Amino acid sequence: MKLLEGKPIAAAVLDDVEADIRRLGGTPPSLVFVRVGEDPASVSYVESKRKTAERLGVNSRLDPFPESISEEALLAHIEALNQDPAVDAILVQAPLPAHIESQRVFNAVDPSKDVDGFGRQNLGRLVQEDPDAFVACTPLGIQEMIKRAGIPTEGRRVVVLGRSLIVGKPAALLFMQKGPFANATVTVAHSRSAHLPALTREADILIAAIGRPGYVTASMVKEGATVIDVGINRVEDPSRARGYRITGDVLFDEVAPKCDYITPVPGGVGLMTVAMLMHNTAKACRLRRSGK
Ligand code: GUN
Repeated sequence: MKLLEGKPIAAAVLDDVEADIRRLGGTPPSLVFVRVGEDPASVSYVESKRKTAERLGVNSRLDPFPESISEEALLAHIEALNQDPAVDAILVQAPLPAHIESQRVFNAVDPSKDVDGFGRQNLGRLVQEDPDAFVACTPLGIQEMIKRAGIPTEGRRVVVLGRSLIVGKPAALLFMQKGPFANATVTVAHSRSAHLPALTREADILIAAIGRPGYVTASMVKEGATVIDVGINRVEDPSRARGYRITGDVLFDEVAPKCDYITPVPGGVGLMTVAMLMHNTAKACRLRRSGK
């Protein structure tokens, strides 16, 4: 069993992005975070993304809004960011409050600034395998991890557990693409799939993105599989100073001994998500300057 840690791989990606930004020259890429409300997880994700941006010389700014903001007011703000030539990239942190229709907001982000790839234009470009598409950062990070670890995907079975817009759907699309570190046979399974353990046991690479702590048990995993744990679940733990701990979708202790490779939580895919956001931000800046 080899632990596939995010830290060294994310650091290597960030070194490459930093070199890309240096090569671009001129004013540094600029990234605006839009956060609605004070959900503690969202606050901490945005903080960690901003810290990384700062380290790389990406100009970032946080535009925070109260939970009570109307959808119209939020859309008007996004339109102003779309029109601002000093803004290369926009990230609207999910989840949004229930009274706001998230997909409308994601679709409102100018496609050339949509570094999360949640808008319909970038999702369409991903389906069409357009290299200029912005692809959601977590699936892109998973593929980058697999690439840099040299884990083969061609002709192999990838099972994606979860069908979200943020992870499951784009991950499935990425691994079924033509090309290196893709060309896989992809199955998408989810909470309503019948015979789920039989499906997940077929996986050479299992991507667990179902959002339930410890959902994937040893009997659901084939011997020698690669397991990518995307879950970031907060579970109460009075023994911790914060009163909770972060745990993945995989029951790590019993699954790990069966795996060739497994990602830890925390310290796995989460770091890759942040690194790929920087990659996408540099790409947005480069494409804008090249007139695309
Ligand atoms: N919430 C959880 N993951 C993500 C992400 O990758 N991007 C955004 N915008 N929100 C998220």
